[in-house]
Amino acid sequence: MRKTIIAGNWKMNMDLEGGRALADGIKMGTLGMDLAAELRVILCPPAVLLHDLCNRLSECSIKVGGQTLHNKPSGAFTGEISGPMLRSVGCHYVIVGHSERRTMFAESDIEVCLKANAALDARLSPIICVGETITEREEGRVKEVLSRQVRKALEGIFDFGITDCVIAYEPVWAIGTGNTATPEQAQEAHRLIRDLLASIYNAEIAERVSIIYGGSVTPQNARDLFAQPDIDGALVGGASLRADSFLAIINATRP
Ligand code: PGA
Repeated sequence: MRKTIIAGNWKMNMDLEGGRALADGIKMGTLGMDLAAELRVILCPPAVLLHDLCNRLSECSIKVGGQTLHNKPSGAFTGEISGPMLRSVGCHYVIVGHSERRTMFAESDIEVCLKANAALDARLSPIICVGETITEREEGRVKEVLSRQVRKALEGIFDFGITDCVIAYEPVWAIGTGNTATPEQAQEAHRLIRDLLASIYNAEIAERVSIIYGGSVTPQNARDLFAQPDIDGALVGGASLRADSFLAIINATRP
């Protein structure tokens, strides 16, 4: 009913040559896989590679996404990139509210909301990231933090927009640390997010939104995570920088 999504977040890694080689490797690997129609593979390279990779991957089913966007379509915002620009080079997705953007670039909940809406306005599907810090988890505030982040991010997004969104649950303490949430911890958070969607929209819509997990996903732990009923795929950082490990994670979605 809902799509399984495996997205690679390359962050600030890969130059043109390296990015082309990685994209080609993933493309070759997926060609032989006979991917199911409900499985979507997305690459989110640095912005300077987007146009080139969109062209390189145009003949296959892999989609391309940006790592962030500005909340305005154009204007005097030196260094920024807008939704219509991403769309014009062939992107279909954009990551919004990644914890690195929230902490290092001071993106607030309101900013995340503006960006998610800007993405939808540009006909891009936002991959909206939420997740608690280790302190918030230890203080028993996971539900409170996720509720706030999800509710704020989705303000102004209506029934017809939410089904074009992807939610990524990325506990901050699991990103790039090698500490993955256990499948049970991740499932609990994903269930919580789906219940939130049901209360904001309705149960039927909540069942249609893909909620993916991010935070030290590897070929070793992917299958157990994907076995959970509310985990619909992964947002992969480190393990997406090598074709073999990324392909192994894609493979782990299959029975
Ligand atoms: P990681 O990154 O897989 O390297 O933990 C995930 C992310 O930041 O999206």
